[in-house]
Amino acid sequence: MNRYFKAEITKNLPLNSKNNLLTLFPLEPVIDPEPGQFYMIEVSDSYNPLLKRPFCCLRKTPDNMQFLFTVRGKGTALMKEFRKGQVIHLIGPLGSGYPEARKGCTPVVIAGGTGIASLFSFIERTPDSSRVIYGAKTKDELLMLDELRKAGIRLTVCTDDCSFGEEGMVDQIFMNFLRSNESIRTSCVLYACGPRPMLRAVAAIARDNNIKGYASLEENMACGFGACLGCAVNTVKGYKRVCKEGPVFPIQEIVW
Ligand SMILES: Cc1cc2nc3c(=O)[nH]c(=O)nc-3n(C[C@H](O)[C@H](O)[C@H](O)COP(=O)(O)OP(=O)(O)OC[C@H]3O[C@@H](n4cnc5c(N)ncnc54)[C@H](O)[C@@H]3O)c2cc1C
Ligand code: FES
Repeated sequence: MNRYFKAEITKNLPLNSKNNLLTLFPLEPVIDPEPGQFYMIEVSDSYNPLLKRPFCCLRKTPDNMQFLFTVRGKGTALMKEFRKGQVIHLIGPLGSGYPEARKGCTPVVIAGGTGIASLFSFIERTPDSSRVIYGAKTKDELLMLDELRKAGIRLTVCTDDCSFGEEGMVDQIFMNFLRSNESIRTSCVLYACGPRPMLRAVAAIARDNNIKGYASLEENMACGFGACLGCAVNTVKGYKRVCKEGPVFPIQEIVW
């Protein structure tokens, strides 16, 4: 099956002033993505901007695909203007997804902001025993909460401005969680996606507590398929391309 396909926009729902939930209907057969894999989305049919932008698939059903996006710059501002009926091109699924947790390990998922998009389908597939810590700057920026509550997981939410859930950032909540869950500390495997400073802090806690796991990196990309080296990051095994060897890496492999 081809990774290059066309899809029709069926809905582009604003969730708040910065975030939209985009629903597409693929117009040709598509490959099912693994949780954590991503797509390059064409944001304009002109040459400005020329480059497609990378986004994780929030959810795929037999009929449609959903993406959650934050407006950051030119490309995502154009995506906010996507209209029902418009046809766009995508490439994907690309990159590596999240490996499943080994039997007997408890997945601990840590998401910051739109990092939840990368982890959402993983969460939907994980067992009830999974723990999820999800944080955002404000209550308004906590997305997909109702769906997460329905997933039957043990969810802790927090906001930087204390407007909802627990007070503090996800790394502090993760630290508190480890202090009060000694038995899980020795058997957990981490899955994290969010802003780089958050991932760095979570990786440091994981290292200090000898916890293994995975982080998905959201670097700027150009080609999206390994040709330009524009997305390379430093790892303990040398430079690696986020679009090809990633975006999901063992968390202790990244030189933070
Ligand atoms: C594998 C992968 C999966 C992603 N999945 C999602 C997703 O599901 N939802 C989502 O909202 N975003 C996701 N992103 C980030 C998204 O691709 C960028 O926000 C987007 O490309 C920005 O395009 P733009 O044209 O609007 O901004 P640009 O004009 O390219 O940049 C505007 C500003 O935003 C900054 N910027 C650009 N990209 C990023 C980034 N990745 N992180 C932080 N700052 C950035 C730039 O440095 C610049 O300051 C993902 C990125 C990767 C690599
Ligand atoms: S974006 Fe070109 S190599 Fe990754």
